Amino acid sequence: MAKIIGFGGSRRNGSYNRALLYSCRSLMPEGSELDIFDISSIPLFEPDQENNPPEVVARFQMAVKESDGVLIVTPEYNFSIPGYIKNAIDSVSRPPERNPFPGKPVALMSASIGMLGGSRAQYHLRQVLVFLDAIPLNKPEVFVTFAPQKFNENMELIDDQAKKFASQLLRNLVEFSAVLKRGLSQKN
Ligand SMILES: Cc1cc2nc3c(=O)[nH]c(=O)nc-3n(C[C@H](O)[C@H](O)[C@H](O)COP(=O)(O)O)c2cc1C
Repeated sequence: MAKIIGFGGSRRNGSYNRALLYSCRSLMPEGSELDIFDISSIPLFEPDQENNPPEVVARFQMAVKESDGVLIVTPEYNFSIPGYIKNAIDSVSRPPERNPFPGKPVALMSASIGMLGGSRAQYHLRQVLVFLDAIPLNKPEVFVTFAPQKFNENMELIDDQAKKFASQLLRNLVEFSAVLKRGLSQKN
């Protein structure tokens, strides 16, 4: 069973990105599961305490490290990554020897009320993931544009196109994580 860890959304009640993240649970391919890590209690990163991180950060580091792949669903704030998401990533990335991202395949999605669907935040996030030695998947890109039209009153994703692209990206993530695993076991 491929274990994917997902995180993201925003702190807003009725966050479309949180709704997208939770909708992905029902879009996972057979033989995989999506565990969602709640990052809302991760405090502001304190560099002086990076060797003694808060319990929630240590748990998050372990959850990413033990996963087969990662799904990040990010809003776009002012053409970039919201501090909320960046802070969570910065917190788990330190100290460098505890960075859990090297070699991890990572799928990105975003939702926005606008017509670009959070694309600029995703491109900034890709750059961050390169520094962390993660492997961001290229395609399909999942940008849920005009988000208020794409979810029902229970905040479930109902747009067929968006569901199709999200399902394909999740399938690619799970398949790529299997390829990486096979590669590693052949080396050992
Ligand atoms: C501080 C702030 C900055 C924003 N900047 C952008 C932006 O640059 N591009 C965009 O498409 N939407 C922007 N938005 C609108 C968000 O896409 C919209 O609020 C979206 O619903 C946020 O995600 P959420 O629903 O998960 O909270 C911004 C919203 C806020 C609160």
